[in-house]
This record gives sequence, C-alpha cells and structure tokens, in this order.
Amino acid sequence: MQNTAESGPDAPIDVTPLLDDPHTAYAALREAGAVHRITGPDGQPAWLVTRYDDVRSALADPRLSLDKRHATQGSYRGFSLPPALEANLLNMDPPDHTRVRRLVARAFTTRRVEALREPIGRTAEELLDAMEARGRADVIAAYAGPLPIVVICDLLGVPEGARRDFRAWTDALISPDPTRPHLMKEAIGAMLAFFTALIATKRAEPGDDLLSELIAVREEAAAEGEGLDQDVSGADRPGDRLTEDELTSLAFLILFAGYENTVHLIGTATLALLDHPAQCDRLRREPGELPSAVDEFMRHESPGPLAIRRFPTEDLTIGGVRIPAGDAVLLSIASANRDPERFPEPGTLDPDRDLSGHLALGHGIHRCLGAALARMETEIALGALISRFPGLRLDVPRADLRHRRTLRARGLISLPVTW
Ligand code: HEM
Repeated sequence: MQNTAESGPDAPIDVTPLLDDPHTAYAALREAGAVHRITGPDGQPAWLVTRYDDVRSALADPRLSLDKRHATQGSYRGFSLPPALEANLLNMDPPDHTRVRRLVARAFTTRRVEALREPIGRTAEELLDAMEARGRADVIAAYAGPLPIVVICDLLGVPEGARRDFRAWTDALISPDPTRPHLMKEAIGAMLAFFTALIATKRAEPGDDLLSELIAVREEAAAEGEGLDQDVSGADRPGDRLTEDELTSLAFLILFAGYENTVHLIGTATLALLDHPAQCDRLRREPGELPSAVDEFMRHESPGPLAIRRFPTEDLTIGGVRIPAGDAVLLSIASANRDPERFPEPGTLDPDRDLSGHLALGHGIHRCLGAALARMETEIALGALISRFPGLRLDVPRADLRHRRTLRARGLISLPVTW
C-alpha cells in the first residue's frame, strides 16, 4: 500500500485493497502514514486522512470548506446536481450553513423524531410478517432497504401513492447502473419535479410532516419583513429563511443522507449479530442494551466510510503533511473509527467499550442532523428482527457474502437468512 520510491510521495496509492478488504488496507495505511495521495471516487486526485485525531480535528476545522467554489480548478470533477439541488447543507459553509441548519433544527425536533417511533415499529413488523410467510429472505431487499424509505416518506410527508416511484428513483441514484448512465439523470430530473410539486401541494395544504414545517418556517420568516435583516455593520444580509432551492435541496438531502446509510447499517449490524450469537442473545434478553450496541455497530462498520470531500481555504498541514489550498481532502471515518490509538482492539465488536467520540455520525458543524432518527430506527429494526426470529441464521456460506465495492459506502449487497 505504500508509495514506492519510484512512484514518489505524491503518486496516488492503488485503491484496489481499500475496495477488496478495507479494514486491513486502512490499518496498513494508518501505520504507513497519516495522509496519503489517492485517486478519489470521482477519479480525481485527493488527500486521504487516516488517523483518528487528524480526522476528528479536520471534521471541525473551519479552514476545510465543503463549498466546491474553494476547489482549485480540476481538483473536483465529481458528480454535480442540478442547481436547485446543489444548495444543500453538505455543500455549504457558514454563514449560509448556520442559517439553514438552524432553521431545519427548528423543524426537525425531538418531538418529530419521537412521533416516528410507533410508525417505524409498525412498518418493521409488517415487513417481518411478509418475510416470515416466505420462510427465508434477503434481509437487505426485504427489510433493511424498504424500512428507511418508508420512514423518510413518513418524515417528509410523501403520499402513499407516490412511494413506489420514489423508491425506484432513489435506487437508481444510489446503485447507478454504469451501463445506463442516463437512468440516473432521469431519476434526478423526476425527483426534482416530484419535490417541486410536493412542496407546492404542501404549501396549499400543509400536513403534519417535516416538509410542511420547513415551508412554514420559510413562509413565517418571509412574512416578517421580506427576510432581510440588518447586520451590525448596517448592511443587508439574507435573514432567517430558506430559499426555494434550499427547501427543495433539503428534502433531497434528507432523503439521500437518511436512506443509504441506514440501509447499510441495518444490514451490517444484522451480520454482526449473526457473527456474534452470544451478543445477539444478550440483546434479545436485554433490549435496553440496544442503544450502545447500535453505536458500536456503526463504529465497527461505519456506513459512510468517507466524510464529504473538503477543500482547504488556505495551505494547511494535517498529520505533518502540507496540503495546498483547493486540493480535495477525504477524511476516512472508517479508518478513524478503527484507529487502535483511540479504540483498543478496534476489530473486536464490544458494545461495552468507551464509544464516546466515535465519528460514524460526523463531528463539528456538519454532524449528522438525523443522528437521533438513525439510532432510533436501527434500534427498532434490530430489536424487532431478533425477537421475531430467535433461530435467525445465514442461508449461504459466510464466505459468499459480498459488500458493495466502493469507497463511498460500506454495505452488504445481499444478506440471505433463514430461521
Ligand atoms: C446510520 C445512518 C446515518 C449515518 C451513518 C449518517 C452519517 C452522517 C455523517 C457522517 C454526516 C456528516 C458528513 C460530513 O461532515 O462530511 C451526516 C450529515 C448529515 N446527515 Fe446523516 N447519517 C445517517 C442517517 C441520517 C438520517 C436518517 C438523516 C435524516 C433523516 C440524516 C441527515 C443528515 C443531514 C441533513 C446531514 C448534513 C448536516 C449538515 O451538513 O449540517 N442522516 N450524516
């Protein structure tokens, strides 16, 4: 994994081992150096940061911007969304990020998350009923995949009739078919049209859902003096409101951020339980232990192995390596969460360890906004699954299981089980 003398310190490392066996490969990289040159998922060169302390402080470093405008020409050629979807929190720095996040936090309250507890439990039981009737199932296709999409549809207030299309578009975005790139573009176009229409409907007829509340936050603020406030210098600045694009891209981000990671976490956590029957029995007996177990599952197999790419606004040093302004920087959450300097015996699944400060849900101002929902959903999903099927076991040899082969996500392609 190390750069060779011939290739020089700036030559990108070969990412194949990171795709084939990420934990072993990250362990080797952490040993070899704090920061490595890599070809990122967008095919462009980037710096990969591997050690816990560096990743944690970089996640909260205001000199690392999420705004692509800080990328030097050529350092970012990743996928771009239509402008109406680009105005999202994960492309923003303060002060825009502060304003939008504060408005969303006002609508995405603990009460709203708690209100989803009962519907999540009901949906989980319905999916398990359908699985039980068949006698065997793929946990990903039958359970981990459908559950989060229903939860997000409930959260945003997507009507029943539109949910089938919604799922098809989402799948086209998350598992793009490389032989048919137009499908992804079409799915994005369809989704943008869908959200635009949904927002218009909710504006006319608000419901008890997050989207209606986000619209209300906007309309309320707009009604209070066109949303323009004066700052201390007396200059006009955008006030407390969401623009139409921010509203649309928020809905899109919540779907995107909330769906894929949760599917992967429920899948890999189920596999961890099958691999550790004693821990599974303990959770069945003591469901009160589920919350810490869920945090250990996400430390052990972080569903989002890389944070969103960041761009230094000035030259800076990470782990002793000088990184020029504008270069793409990838922070490895997966590697940080298995750094033995912070988590001793990091490959061992141990819900009793000190889990404070794990980075699976990020850190700093962009810390996961849906953290409470993600935890609650995974706890309910795992609790319901293991109590329904005490004899749950793999339906294929362990060695046949495959993870998605990407740097961006850590999740199983399928998880066939029987009971
Ligand atoms: C297991 C599930 C989840 C994981 C592992 C996860 C992980 C993360 C991480 C690591 C970040 C920070 C990214 C960065 O700084 O580069 C993040 C941000 C975010 N997440 Fe999650 N997430 C999960 C579920 C959810 C859910 C269910 C929602 C909403 C329904 C959600 C909404 C968001 C949003 C809106 C942001 C952006 C926050 C900001 O920029 O201020 N996530 N998530």
